[in-house]
Amino acid sequence: MRSVSDGPYVDLRSDTVTKPTPAMRRAMADAEVGDDWFGDDPTVNRLQERLAELTGREAALYLPTGTMCNQVAMHVFARSGHLVVSEESAHTCGVEASSSAVLSGIAFRRVRAASRGLLTAAQVAAALEPDPYDVTRVDLVTIENTHQVGGGAAMPVADVRAIHAVCADRGVPLYLDGARLFNACTVTGAKVSEYAAEVDALMVCLSKGLGAPIGSLLAGDAEFIREARRLRVVFGGAWRQAGIMAAAGLIALEEGPRRLADDHANARRLAEGVADILPGSLDPADVQTNILFADVTSTGRPVSAWVSAMAACGVLVSTVAGQVRMVTHRDIGPWEIDTALDAWRRVAEELTTR
Ligand SMILES: Cc1ncc(COP(=O)(O)O)c(C=O)c1O
Repeated sequence: MRSVSDGPYVDLRSDTVTKPTPAMRRAMADAEVGDDWFGDDPTVNRLQERLAELTGREAALYLPTGTMCNQVAMHVFARSGHLVVSEESAHTCGVEASSSAVLSGIAFRRVRAASRGLLTAAQVAAALEPDPYDVTRVDLVTIENTHQVGGGAAMPVADVRAIHAVCADRGVPLYLDGARLFNACTVTGAKVSEYAAEVDALMVCLSKGLGAPIGSLLAGDAEFIREARRLRVVFGGAWRQAGIMAAAGLIALEEGPRRLADDHANARRLAEGVADILPGSLDPADVQTNILFADVTSTGRPVSAWVSAMAACGVLVSTVAGQVRMVTHRDIGPWEIDTALDAWRRVAEELTTR
């Protein structure tokens, strides 16, 4: 059995697998740095100021991971024992539910979206109905855009605005997990600032489609960021000469968004090919951004068999929500899509004829 270190693989497991570009590596080597715990790393400060500018929010804070952004934000807004409303397959309440329980004593009111992970204002309104017994308290609503388990579905600004209006009416803040917000902007044509204006706070990841090796940022008003900065120390995420990473992050932030349309086109072509090879496994029309899921259950073979057989053909895919997940990114071009489709053909022949 091959292993990843034997490479080269076509790696479609996630958009987090990209390697830093030569320009990023040069910027990292030359980065001007300071001790970010004290707030005096000039490159980190530049990155934070740039995101604050792009989002139109008062301030931003650079953190090692998207998970830490979500955890810090939820801790700011929600008290222990209180509820956070999230779509049931969202990163906040799926992958990170234990973190929230341990770090903040948060429980979730999970809402199942009717379509592709995207909550509606009506669903949020129902989730915020006051408890007639005055026992439960909802402190926060979170949304995810694009929605990862929803197949990279993008929520239009108007829908975020409608959810925000419901939240504001009930006096509950709205937080946006925008790990892939720039992908959403590429599809909807909206600016990041238009989304940012409709929420109380948000995060974006630099380490996903934008291609930085590490790093995510929170953005919001000055008071939110002041408290998030304090919690960053509490949660062990206050780093030192982080400017080395922020230098690559600045390049990702400036240059990354421009090429996301290519990732989306590659994902669509991959989806069309997979739909031809295994009819019914997915609908290419659902593929709006860089994430696609193929449902292989009708073949009677476990998803793990597909993942292993694809790997044996040199193509890495992952399993999420019982399906084969593939994610396009900067290191995937037309040749990699052809190679992946070739692997799909071989694996489909092998697994559906035995
Ligand atoms: C939607 C979403 N939010 C948050 C995260 C967490 O980001 P990180 O892996 O940087 O902790 C991920 C990771 O894949 C994600 O897909």
